[in-house]
Amino acid sequence: MSIRYIEETGQLILETRSTSYQMKIDSLGYLNHLYYGPKVETTDMSYPYRIYDHGFSGNPYDMRNNRAFSLDSMPQEYTSFGVGDFRVSSIAASCSDGSRCAEFRYEKHEIIDGKYSIPGLPSVYDSGAVAQTLIVTLIDNAANIRIKLYYGVFESLDIITRAAEISNAGYEIVWLRKASSMCLELPFGKWDMIHFHGRHCMERQPERVPLFHGIHTLSSGRGMSSHQHNPFVILCDHEATEDSGTCYGMMLMYSGNHKTEIELDQFDSTRVVMGLSDDRFRWELAPNTSLHTPEVILTCADGLTELSHRYHRVIRNNVVRGAYKLSHRPVLINNWEAMYFDLNEEKLLALADKAASLGIELFVLDDGWFKNRVDDNAALGDWVPDEKKLPNGLDSLIEKINAKGMKFGLWVEPEMVSEDSDLYRAHPDWALTAPNRAPMMARNQLVLDLSRQEVHEYIFNTLSDLLSKYNITYIKWDFNRPLSDVYSRSTPSPRQGEVAHRYYLSLYKIYERLTEKFPNVLFEGCAGGGGRFDAGMLHYAPQIWCSDNTDPISRLTIQYGTSFGYPMSSVGAHVSATPNHQTGRLTPLSTRGIVAMSGAFGYELDLLKLSDGELAEIKEQVARFKEIEPIVHNGLFYRLSSMQESGHYFAWQFVSPEKDRSLVNIVVTNPLANSTPIHVRLKGLDPDALYSVDGEFECSGSALMKAGYTFTRLTGDYPALQVDIKQVK
Ligand code: GLA
Repeated sequence: MSIRYIEETGQLILETRSTSYQMKIDSLGYLNHLYYGPKVETTDMSYPYRIYDHGFSGNPYDMRNNRAFSLDSMPQEYTSFGVGDFRVSSIAASCSDGSRCAEFRYEKHEIIDGKYSIPGLPSVYDSGAVAQTLIVTLIDNAANIRIKLYYGVFESLDIITRAAEISNAGYEIVWLRKASSMCLELPFGKWDMIHFHGRHCMERQPERVPLFHGIHTLSSGRGMSSHQHNPFVILCDHEATEDSGTCYGMMLMYSGNHKTEIELDQFDSTRVVMGLSDDRFRWELAPNTSLHTPEVILTCADGLTELSHRYHRVIRNNVVRGAYKLSHRPVLINNWEAMYFDLNEEKLLALADKAASLGIELFVLDDGWFKNRVDDNAALGDWVPDEKKLPNGLDSLIEKINAKGMKFGLWVEPEMVSEDSDLYRAHPDWALTAPNRAPMMARNQLVLDLSRQEVHEYIFNTLSDLLSKYNITYIKWDFNRPLSDVYSRSTPSPRQGEVAHRYYLSLYKIYERLTEKFPNVLFEGCAGGGGRFDAGMLHYAPQIWCSDNTDPISRLTIQYGTSFGYPMSSVGAHVSATPNHQTGRLTPLSTRGIVAMSGAFGYELDLLKLSDGELAEIKEQVARFKEIEPIVHNGLFYRLSSMQESGHYFAWQFVSPEKDRSLVNIVVTNPLANSTPIHVRLKGLDPDALYSVDGEFECSGSALMKAGYTFTRLTGDYPALQVDIKQVK
């Protein structure tokens, strides 16, 4: 049993293999948080708390003059609001009488076998790993708000999930103004925050900073999880390294506006509140209705590597679904960087021909295939093949590609509309634009109002028709601008604050319907590269185009940052041309191959411009990837270089689940004259096994991990190496 209730002390205890989580219902019915951290054998973790008058922190009325009891200093599972806890709150609302306060007390709880799911939202599911669910219900009878706190406990995975359901228990409307998924208190300890910020073409750059007193906010109000702030954060000991130190991970499984607030308060206590962004949010909670929040995936691990391994495992096995979850992902060629909009059947077939001869398995036709799409100023919304570029039709193109032994994939950007499109001319009110105001344009396009039922149906039908009519086995689902001017013409004005979230409820439903109807189609997510790289999307699309930046050297930090939370099987990565189209940098083909082969692998360049030597090298890379893919996608991933070393080199390692094979990768970003060769300690091997290192020499796992491995000296511009380590005994 991973969830226990101890009636005498009012404690609820959650346990995973190596962590404990404790909460306690106190004598007044407040749900106190006691502990989350490495496993402890003590059942009552209230002992570290000393109760004393905190000075200038008020006391609940029930306590009258007992000044030692204050919501302002008490660790809580989900906060009240407006009644004397002055720290960041989990929830805010305007009640029917105009009051803006509520104080939640325990009503009941239940423990259920299996993992809860969340209506309308993606969530971690129970697949093979046995899970249990705890639901604790809190209520405020004056505000008439009831909150159900959901906890999913995956004992063997060391994962706890959290979500909340907020409902109106009264007879009048309540206006929700903030609805977070969780509040997590870390009352003791000093923490560094590692977060993943970025921009278009430079996503998920890790930054590690010690928390200072005040509130740290990581959020996106862009209508997408965003290039700028990924909905994932780590709090760790100041001393924590890859290998040791307490590290907490918090990942929101949501693709829209999100917010994480981390407050280090006056008493040196840390509170994390994570969930939907409250920016422009206002939700009409009618009597007897409820709002479900997105899910947070939590873990507490010893060291950053262990933390990442847990996220990789849970995402691979319990978030991603469908036929491609753990099976081979086809090596693809995408025509975007080879042709951009300047495409036609002849060019496409010539590229496909070359690709097929190299062993590439999937041909992806990117943007520009539909009528009037000569550049990015027009045609989004009109998903009809362009007869000028494809005079024999899309069908015929696909047939010819299939005849070469390749599968066919198609790019779409279904959530968008161009002003210059038949769709917009017919339905200008289907775009998100505010009345009497010219909307912000981005890439000269607008976003469709997915909160409208007709738009929902239109998008579903458009994609369903394409997938039914043509032999398409892969869809690249793009999303190339943020949401602005968020106003729906089908929503009454007081409820406009619901539109941004309703957009995502609709999007998830479209994806749900499509993945159910077309279970064998591989979806790859994309949003100007990696602008919507989150666990919510990964529930539908097993891989996501990680960045529009295909320069392998830029990719090193992008993929390094992404690896903290997301498995490499989810990281779309392609070999592109040199000089690189985003940075102008020249890099060796071998380096481009090694970097891209660490993800969901493919090519995105004009193969017809390459020499025979380069084509032969690509043929070898493709064959190599097919051979190593099980280790790259389903093995364990280790970062061998730290954020500090990244100015000089990046090294990383894959180890097969059986520990019988490992791939050690290095890219030198700044070769130094007469420097000592780079030396790393390998990880994750079997200490007692004997390994052959690149066929050069044999060595024990313990030596490679304890004494380490020295790379041969690498010189020149951005040299790279992949060392193959195979168990011989
Ligand atoms: C986005 C994607 C690219 C490409 C273009 C097409 O930028 O990230 O990979 O598909 O759109 O317009």
